[in-house]
This record gives sequence, structure tokens and C-alpha cells, in this order.
Amino acid sequence: MCGIVGYVGTQPALDVVLAGLRRLEYRGYDSAGVAVLADGGLAAAKKAGKLGSLEKELATNPLPVGATGIGHTRWATHGAPTDTNAHPHLDNAGRVAVVHNGIIENFACLRAELTGRGHDLTSETDTEVVAHLLAEEFSSCADLGEAMRLVCRRLEGAFTLVAMHADEPDVVVGARRNSPLVVGVGQGEAFLASDVAAFIAHTRSAIELGQDQVVELRRDGVTVTGFDGRPADVRSYHVDWDVSAAEKGGYDYFMLKEIAEQPKAVADTLLGRVDASGSLTLDEVRIGAQELRETDKVVVVACGTAFHAGLIAKYAIEHWTRLPCEVELASEFRYRDPILDPRTLVIAISQSGETMDTLMALRHAREQGSKVLAICNTNGSTIPREADAVLYTHAGPEVAVASTKAFLTQLVACYLVALYLGQVRGTKWGDEIRAVVRELSRISREVERVLATMEPVRELARSLAEKDTVLFLGRHVGHPVALEGALKLKELAYMHAEGFAAGELKHGPIALIEEDLPVVVVVPSPAGRSVLHDKIVSNIQEIRARGARTIVVAEEGDEAVVPYADHLIRIPATPTLLQPLVATVPLQVFACELATARGNDVDQPRNLAKSVTVE
Ligand code: M6R
Repeated sequence: MCGIVGYVGTQPALDVVLAGLRRLEYRGYDSAGVAVLADGGLAAAKKAGKLGSLEKELATNPLPVGATGIGHTRWATHGAPTDTNAHPHLDNAGRVAVVHNGIIENFACLRAELTGRGHDLTSETDTEVVAHLLAEEFSSCADLGEAMRLVCRRLEGAFTLVAMHADEPDVVVGARRNSPLVVGVGQGEAFLASDVAAFIAHTRSAIELGQDQVVELRRDGVTVTGFDGRPADVRSYHVDWDVSAAEKGGYDYFMLKEIAEQPKAVADTLLGRVDASGSLTLDEVRIGAQELRETDKVVVVACGTAFHAGLIAKYAIEHWTRLPCEVELASEFRYRDPILDPRTLVIAISQSGETMDTLMALRHAREQGSKVLAICNTNGSTIPREADAVLYTHAGPEVAVASTKAFLTQLVACYLVALYLGQVRGTKWGDEIRAVVRELSRISREVERVLATMEPVRELARSLAEKDTVLFLGRHVGHPVALEGALKLKELAYMHAEGFAAGELKHGPIALIEEDLPVVVVVPSPAGRSVLHDKIVSNIQEIRARGARTIVVAEEGDEAVVPYADHLIRIPATPTLLQPLVATVPLQVFACELATARGNDVDQPRNLAKSVTVE
């Protein structure tokens, strides 16, 4: 939520900042703003709407050229997305500019205090107080880094702040608590951003910032201290992807590109995880074998699409390890006082590694003595840093707000963890593990085959663009796939879409079925448990008898469904538990095409942001 960029160097700061914001726009796109230091003063511009509106404004009213600048693209929390509420926020003298991601929980009393001292605050935001507090502190210490440390010690909540002051024209200062901020180090220049994508075109050399740290950026280097002023240890790393991964590469939308990248993402996530003897070697899983053997329960916590990956993981974990597995929405987890102890293994799944709900669930679990394993796509992000162990998915940067390739790689990672637990605990024989791994290695080609046959799905999606509702049904692992199909449609097409366990239908939701209502049914493999397959064939007949238009996703060779399918989407045959890896793909394509046909921007759906860093 909200994208932040800071720059100090030799290039025109505005160009660097705007290009960075363009790459961070997925984090929020309600409004945008920039500020530069030039000619001994500070100049700023901000505008409601997407970055394009700000760029238009700058074309009409250009800012002076300077080599120090900051910028922001906003997902509104406090105050409507207006020009006034857009960041940067300035102090009354217009000497300090600050941008912020997160929520300052004690802003109301700070605001009252400032107003009492004669400050004039004009926006509805929580951020503006920081500009005024920084100005006050700077007036006594004349050091922006020190002023930031003093102010941060007074703030409550989660925040990333980036600020500059006209009296220190070659310095940008950042601070972070529970909200992402990374540093990029170039030759004679340095960057601050919510995500490395903002500066990857300039440098791949990055520094992770820890909690409660302040960073001072100058042309000749970077210093990091705690909020208490003590020098901090920092970890530098090399970003292992380049600028092309963060570009559309000829596709109209990032989402289309990311759907197409799934075969590679799945294959990359499997790479290097099996040794010559066929045993799994998950080197990043730093939880000892003995501890995993003593585990008596697994709990998965995640949000949104990652939560659906967790629901599928449950089937694999319970089937392959015989360990009970609970799956919980991270946002609900800590509020219900879950039963956790050192024998509970908690798996936190997150693409971004910054989702606040998941982070809070992770912290709660660790406080209760449980070990946490993160499944994450973003190197150096907070969730893997705070977890006991991590298994990285290798999807590459996912820019579109709707998660696609990250989901498939989360599934692969979940299967690997489940098999690994089975291997360590001896509930799966080596040859059984090798057989599943062989099937998993085959999946990347099968996903490619699915992608090559999507034109009829796109055509169907376009023909349904005027509908109000689409329902999704599934059984067993097909149920979370149905939930995921419905989520994609909701967030992209702004349609009423719901996923149900097919068996639940008769307990209420069947009342929703009416003439020509599109219902997508995910059919389990007939080669798996025939009873499961037979039951869903009956469910298809039940809804069809009530007028539904059935869109059936079924394996090649499954002839039993043919008489009842108004539209048939074929997927390759896979082992039952792995079917979500191929069954989800047509649903992603369906949602993307239907949303596009309705004229929606699938990369930046309304009201959403990619990385949800507030609770
Ligand atoms: O970064 P995370 O995986 O933690 O994000 C979790 C959800 O916010 C995310 O999956 C969201 O539901 C997506 N927009 C779904 O497409």
C-alpha cells in the first residue's frame, strides 16, 4: 500500500523518481506526488488520480531541476484521494517534505499538540503531522537524520517515511517500522524505495533495512542507525532479476505477461530442490529434522490468493504426512486465541512478504513458541526475515494486483514442504516422493499446454461480459480452486462471483441458480477417487436441471461430463492433488478476459493495492 521513492545523486531527480513511481504504481494509485530540492528551495507537485494525472500537471507546470527528490503513489487510508491529501506533505515554511506508507495511530493527539503550538495543518491525513514535527526538531538540531530519529520515537503504528529538507540539499532520510523500505546503492547515487523494482534500472545492489531503523542517503554513501541513534548492522544483497522482469515485455497488461510466465515460474520453483538420489533438499528450511519429527500440528496462515494456496496445501499435508493441518485467514488468526505451542509448525504464505495481517499472525505464532516457515516470493522482505525458515518461490516480480504466477508457485512450494515433512517423518517412502516430484516436474509443460488452448475460454469470457453473477463450484482440492476463480473475477471484473463446495450447494446456495446463470464447475480427476467424481457429475446435473449454464473444467478423456457441459474446458490429466496447478489457469484467463471486455484495467483494479501493509 503506497509506493515510495527517494533519490540523491547526479541525475535529474524528478526523472528518476517518476520512473520509480511508475514501477511502484501497483502499490496504490489513488493519487501521486513528487518533491525536488533545487536552487536552495523545495518544489512539490501532487495530484489526485493515477500517476498520469501528475505527469500531465508537471508537463504544464514543470518543477525546477534538482538532483535530490522524493515521490509517492498513494492508496488512501486517512482522508479521501484528493490533491490536498496526496503526498508529499510539507511544513508551513515549505522547507520539509515527507512521504509516508502505513498508519500513524497517534496522529490525532500529535495533530492537536501541533495545532496548539500554532501549526496550520491543511490535510485530513495522518502523515502531515510528521512534516511539522520534523520541521520543529530540525530547527533545534539542524540534522535531518537526528530529527527523523527523534520524531520516530514519538510515533505509534506502522510507517515508512522518506523526507528531505531544503537546508540539507544533498540528503534524503528514510525510516521504517513494520512497513517496507529498501536501499539501492549506485555509483555516486543512492535510492530508497518500497520495492527494488523502483531502482532496478539503475542498480541491482541493495540493502535491507531492519525494523526501527533510520537511513541517511548521500551521494557518497549510506548510513543506517536505530531510532536510538546507534549504528545498525545491515545486510547487502544483489537483486537476482533485471529490469526486463519488471516490464510488460510487449503484453498489454502485466497480468497477461504473468499468466504466460507460469510454466517458467513453476519450473524455477522446483529447481535445485532434489538431490542426485531423488531426496528433497530444502536448504532454506532451517528448522531441524528432529523438530519437524516432533511437530504434531501444522497451521497455515495467509490472505487472499495465498490463503487459497494454503487450503490446497492442507489436502497434501494431511494426506502425505498424516499431520492435522488447519488453515486460517491471517487477519482472523491472532484474534481468536489459537492453540499454539512449540510442536506446532506454522506456515505463513505471502507473495510480497509484507502483508501486515500475515506478519502479525507470524509474530503471534512465534510469541507462543511455534516455529514459522515462510513461503515467500520476495527476497529480503519482512515475513521471511522474521520467520524461522523460508522457502522462496521463484516466480520473479509479480506486478499485476491479481496474483497468478505467485499462486502456482505457492502451490509448488506447499507440495514440496508437504513432501519434505513426509520424507523427514518417514510417512512417505523415497520412491513415492520421487514419483510425485516427477509429476511436479511434468506440470510446467502441462501448464504450457493449457495456455496454448485458451482462445475458446477468452471467447466465452467475452460473451459473458454483460452478466451480473458467475458461480464457481468444486470438490476436494477443486473447492479452493473455485474460491480462487471467484476471487479473480470479483477483483478484476467487479462482478458478483462466489465459490462453493459443490456438496454445500443443496444446503442453501442452490437457491441462487436461475435461468442462464453461468456456473463454472471444477471436476476432479476420474482417475482419483471415483466417488468424488461421480458426486460432482450429479451436482452438475442438479444445477443444469434448474437452468444454469454449465462451464465445466474437466480432464482430457473425462467423457462422463460431456452430456451436461454447455461449455467444456479441457485440462491435462494430473494426479488428484496436483490438479489445481492446471485447473486454476483457465479461470485466471477467464477473469482477465472478462474484466478487459468490461473495460477494466486488470493491472490496477479499483480500490485495491498489491501489497497490503496495513491491517
Ligand atoms: O502478498 P501476499 O501474498 O501476502 O498477498 C495476499 C493477498 O493480498 C493477495 O493474494 C490478494 O488476495 C490478491 N490480490 C489476489 O489476487
